[in-house]
Amino acid sequence: METVVSGIRSTGHLHLGNYFGAIKNFVKMQHQHRCYFFIADYHSLTTHPTPDDLSRNVRQVLIEYLAAGIDPEIATLYIQSDVPEVAELYLLLSMNAYKGELERCTSFKDKVRKQPDNVNAGLLTYPVLMAADIIIHKASKVPVGKDQEQHLEMARTFANRFNRMYSTDCFPPPYAFNFDSELVKVPGLDGSTKMGKSEAEGNAIFLADDEKAIRKKVMRATTDSGPGKPGEPMTQPVENLFNLMGIVSSPETVSYYLDTYNQATIRYGDMKKQLAGDMIAFTAPLRERILALDADDKYLQKVARMGAEKARESAQKTIREVREIIGFSAP
Ligand code: ADP
Ligand code: TRP
Repeated sequence: METVVSGIRSTGHLHLGNYFGAIKNFVKMQHQHRCYFFIADYHSLTTHPTPDDLSRNVRQVLIEYLAAGIDPEIATLYIQSDVPEVAELYLLLSMNAYKGELERCTSFKDKVRKQPDNVNAGLLTYPVLMAADIIIHKASKVPVGKDQEQHLEMARTFANRFNRMYSTDCFPPPYAFNFDSELVKVPGLDGSTKMGKSEAEGNAIFLADDEKAIRKKVMRATTDSGPGKPGEPMTQPVENLFNLMGIVSSPETVSYYLDTYNQATIRYGDMKKQLAGDMIAFTAPLRERILALDADDKYLQKVARMGAEKARESAQKTIREVREIIGFSAP
């Protein structure tokens, strides 16, 4: 049994990318490992600094975690800011995290481009807080999508550096993990290679989307003017549609449309109809559970309380050890 940690920022509804990149793994892993799954609300402040939607977004992610099948009696499911020990470990780790390495991080450079008027220190130290999230429970496996690989590499750097600095083996090095061996990157519907909630309108299918919304987005998805000559590579938008089909449709369906593509008889409209139908079939039960949970405040509060308690117990143990290793005297 290993210790597993992962989190998702509370910046809105979860989409199929979050599901297949991360949550699907959470659900499988909870039965085999000691799992901690959380809602990264501290992290959400790096891009969403105002309190307007904070509690609503946290509640929504909690609902969607539960709807996807995380069992709070088995896994520890909690809200990051309910565990202030994480903030303390983040502070301690940041003393040995260097400006140069943080500035080189791709996601930081990306955010500088996307929000040039708000290049805050939290964005720069985002990977330090993420490392704290992980090593506070001494986790070795971190189920995440492919876009998080570099953050995991940095988490290993910080964990190893701490161990070396204080001549200890306190922290195991954490690794990104996907159940089906390769890390996943789910493409968007707008022709871009990543489905994401901060991407363009219509890029993402959310777990809570209703039938109409899904059909509309899929039917509007970017394609091309038709297959090229045999042997010519598929264009990115069409490859995306096939990849999405590979995720929600049966293998027979995928090979049927691949055949029609190869014979240049494909009608993208038909393919999209099929894809929309399969996405709806996949998300419908999730959406039903989301709506039911949304009406159960008492249960949600109970889950959050229980998770905070279990997560703090584990975090406090680590922080006590870390304080002693660094040389702070016990109060
Ligand atoms: P977003 O990119 O929409 O803002 P987050 O950054 O909050 O989503 O991602 C939360 C988790 O979901 C991470 O583990 C991330 O790797 C995964 N994830 C997000 N988008 C995708 C995607 N398109 N494909 C695979 N995994 C993804
Ligand atoms: N950076 C992750 C994302 O954007 C969210 C996250 C924060 C996380 N802390 C984490 C993921 C710790 C795994 C482990 O998706």
